[in-house]
Amino acid sequence: MRGTERKAILAEIRDIVRKSASRDEKLRDICELLRKRVDHYDWVGFYLVEGDETLVLGPFSGEPTVHVRIKFGEGICGQAAALKKPFLVQDVSRENNYLSCSPLVKSELVVPIFKGEVLVGELDIDSHKLAPFNDEDLKFLQDVCKIVSDALF
Ligand code: SME
Repeated sequence: MRGTERKAILAEIRDIVRKSASRDEKLRDICELLRKRVDHYDWVGFYLVEGDETLVLGPFSGEPTVHVRIKFGEGICGQAAALKKPFLVQDVSRENNYLSCSPLVKSELVVPIFKGEVLVGELDIDSHKLAPFNDEDLKFLQDVCKIVSDALF
């Protein structure tokens, strides 16, 4: 993905968060935009923190998943939440602590969303490609999470 395309998508996300709609509608629009515009993003969704130790599935774009509630520490999402850090798995077949949503998924990147110091959610990306994610994806998705956190949490 080129830098100009990343900038254009970020501008569209800033437009989405400013429009008049519910938070869930805005988050869903962001998921749909990311999935449509980035070739290797095949499932895009938000998990929101509930209580101290649980992630609950929020708006997403892609196939429905059975993993609607995930305890901290479980799977890639739960590990990212427990560590409060991005978690990148370029080949999910090599990750033991993994919750499979679809046999088509080959890699996953989870980026935490903070409000100040507090973890409020995560942005989860699944890809059908092997090892498609690079540093630019991480930086880009962290920018997305910052916009979302500033405007919607
Ligand atoms: N694979 C994730 C579960 C969520 S789905 O990707 C939508 C995990 O291991 O935590």
